[in-house]
Amino acid sequence: MKYLSFQNGDQIPALGLGTWKSEPGQVRKAVVWAIEAGYRHLDCAKIYQNEKEVGEGIEIAIRSGSVKREDLFVTSKLWNNAHKADQVKPALENTLKDLGLDYLDLYLVHWPLAFKSGVTFAQEREDFYTYEEAPLSATWQAMQEMKELGLARHIGVSNFNQNKLNELASLPGQQPEMNQVEMHPFLPQANLVNYCKSRAILITAYSPLGSPDSRSEKHANDPKLLDNEKIKEIADRHGASVGQVLIAWSIARDIAVIPKSTNRGRIEENFKAAELQLSESDLQELANIGVNHRFVDGSFFTGENSPYNLHDLWDDH
Ligand code: A2P
Repeated sequence: MKYLSFQNGDQIPALGLGTWKSEPGQVRKAVVWAIEAGYRHLDCAKIYQNEKEVGEGIEIAIRSGSVKREDLFVTSKLWNNAHKADQVKPALENTLKDLGLDYLDLYLVHWPLAFKSGVTFAQEREDFYTYEEAPLSATWQAMQEMKELGLARHIGVSNFNQNKLNELASLPGQQPEMNQVEMHPFLPQANLVNYCKSRAILITAYSPLGSPDSRSEKHANDPKLLDNEKIKEIADRHGASVGQVLIAWSIARDIAVIPKSTNRGRIEENFKAAELQLSESDLQELANIGVNHRFVDGSFFTGENSPYNLHDLWDDH
């Protein structure tokens, strides 16, 4: 397994288990199976509404002797409705309680967007935004305090473009150590990758398989990563699956990757992708694939009543 290093020398396994859209009743087992298969990195978030069950899986694995807490790397994310400085610690403590842990390895600001407290999803209210009361600078200051308190060993962000990262770079103190963004061969984000690498910000790729389980009608005609003929050809050459090639692609770029699965066979298949070595010519073919597509476009946060627009969120809009 490849590991990526933080500046203090701590390491994160390049391959982790994603838990977004992992159903209740399934994710506990998925976590146990993943740890048994060798995963040591688990990616969680408050908004996935399953952290308690993920925590039960962790507890089962630790009690059975499969793993020790200190051998696991657990990430979680601050939801948009807890961005005010005094909300960050209670939010983190709530996540720790659900996960049954006394510290996180990594805590991320999930989106550069602030909701009013109590609002879970943007669609619930017309006036859900409160960004004036919770500027990123205040949220980021509180995140740094979480690190100083030892509640999170590392801190970072998710869904931040270069402008948003620049906003944090202008502040004193600790810079984000990780940026978790959508990334796969349809969205390689070379500029953002170069930006982050030049500033020692690690990257985690979410939706590495193209998030095939989040297709609403609106996305029915989206291109499908897992059905891409060029990627299939590369997979066939290696006797691997398309999913494994997609996972190996991130690892080859020194980017952490968190495929979600609650299926035991696919959890194990995905883990084996860490051993798949793609050649320079495979990587070149993947770079030339010629399809550009963002599966998680953030449009649920923009619209008539929103002070945010897609241009705020992404560098390429
Ligand atoms: P399942 O949980 O039934 O395995 P992403 O990580 O891009 O969001 O993709 C997750 C989706 O891809 C889930 O629907 C998951 O279904 C499915 N999936 C996970 N691993 C594989 C794989 N190796 N091949 C095909 N589909 C996969």
